[in-house]
Amino acid sequence: MPLFVNFRSVVHALSDSLDLVGIDDVHHGKRVGIMAVEILRELGWSRQDQEMVFDACLLHDIGVSTSDLHRQLVEEFDWVGSQTHAKLGAFLLSKFPPLAHLAPAIRLHHTHWAELKDRCGKTERIANLIFLADRVDVLAGTAILNDELLEGVPAIRAKVLEQSGRMFDPELVAAFVSVSRKEAFWLGLETGPVAEYMARISRSARQEETGIETLLGVAALFSHVVDAKSHFTVDHSQGVARVAAYLCGILGDSCRLDHDDCAKLELAGYLHDLGKLRIPDAVLDKPGPLTGRERRQITSHAYETYRILSRIPGFEDIALWASYHHEMPDGEGYPFRLTRDEIPFQARILRAADIFQALAQDRPYRDALPAPAVLDHLRLLCEEGQLDLSIYDAIAANLPEVYRLAQPCADQFQMNSRRAASDPIVAS
Ligand SMILES: [Fe+2]
Ligand SMILES: [Fe+2]
Ligand SMILES: [Fe+2]
Repeated sequence: MPLFVNFRSVVHALSDSLDLVGIDDVHHGKRVGIMAVEILRELGWSRQDQEMVFDACLLHDIGVSTSDLHRQLVEEFDWVGSQTHAKLGAFLLSKFPPLAHLAPAIRLHHTHWAELKDRCGKTERIANLIFLADRVDVLAGTAILNDELLEGVPAIRAKVLEQSGRMFDPELVAAFVSVSRKEAFWLGLETGPVAEYMARISRSARQEETGIETLLGVAALFSHVVDAKSHFTVDHSQGVARVAAYLCGILGDSCRLDHDDCAKLELAGYLHDLGKLRIPDAVLDKPGPLTGRERRQITSHAYETYRILSRIPGFEDIALWASYHHEMPDGEGYPFRLTRDEIPFQARILRAADIFQALAQDRPYRDALPAPAVLDHLRLLCEEGQLDLSIYDAIAANLPEVYRLAQPCADQFQMNSRRAASDPIVAS
């Protein structure tokens, strides 16, 4: 089943989730992309190359899921452990053919020019351009947020010049020095202009037929980033996607759900917790009771998911089903406080899958429950009117299989990605 969506728009929207890891600064990847494109224009690179590099910039930190690691990325200019997320990001991308061409440059985006110059080709130059723009953004970051960017420009330019031939390619440094003389270069990095830049790109994107396998692949890729945020949620989104699609198939005829519903529900399962990337690690893994502020940070994740997915033309149903996964029939759910009749049946299946998977997995405050205990819990929800009887019956009649699908599986991808992070040969 093809969906009419623009693949590049999907990637751009989903890459928003990577920037959420910055919590209060949610435009890092886009600013890096905008700066890189300005430098490439100065160097006369083709429009096609500019677009490819822009996408690589949006995805350059796909190996970063935790706010702790992100803090290190923005607080230190250069440090010993910086290669780990570059290797992991390159590995994740290399496993997804439509984006695998970006992996080699992402692998090298924290490698000094002094190490690259002897094998200098297009990949190395793109990698070093991402590195340069990324480090400029780190130097500029606080000033951008505090509206003091122009005052800090001379120091940023001096720091980059100082690293010409060491960390950075002298040709790229020269192009940066040239374009960064213009105030417009820096003013374009402020929040409003960045949002307008992205809106211009998305307006010019044409909808096209995109195969469901490609969409499931890119959704699975981003679900790995979300699930890697905490060791308690490893494979959570994948488990929810598997259970939701399975239940949709079982309920299909009796509930008038077709094959397209099941495929879209699987996509929604992969993507439902995208917004969790904005929750600080310490809050997500907190074993004790949450403060009011922490609770608000948790409850905002479904809304962040809605913001990201609702930007993708063609994903209208998926955006709603995914972001309604904490809505409850009594109107006490979040973030929209919908009532029973306002919650589509597909979203109710997704909610059941989310609850089932979470109960079948360890959490900071309890161990994973065995299958009969999970079913007991769901029966209570059903008796309270919080779960549809038809969904409960479908789970009860297929309990061993649903439980198996919900189990976090130490799949090949997970094992390989860990291996990739420690093996320089795999991803380089
Ligand atoms: Fe990075
Ligand atoms: Fe959630
Ligand atoms: Fe979830």
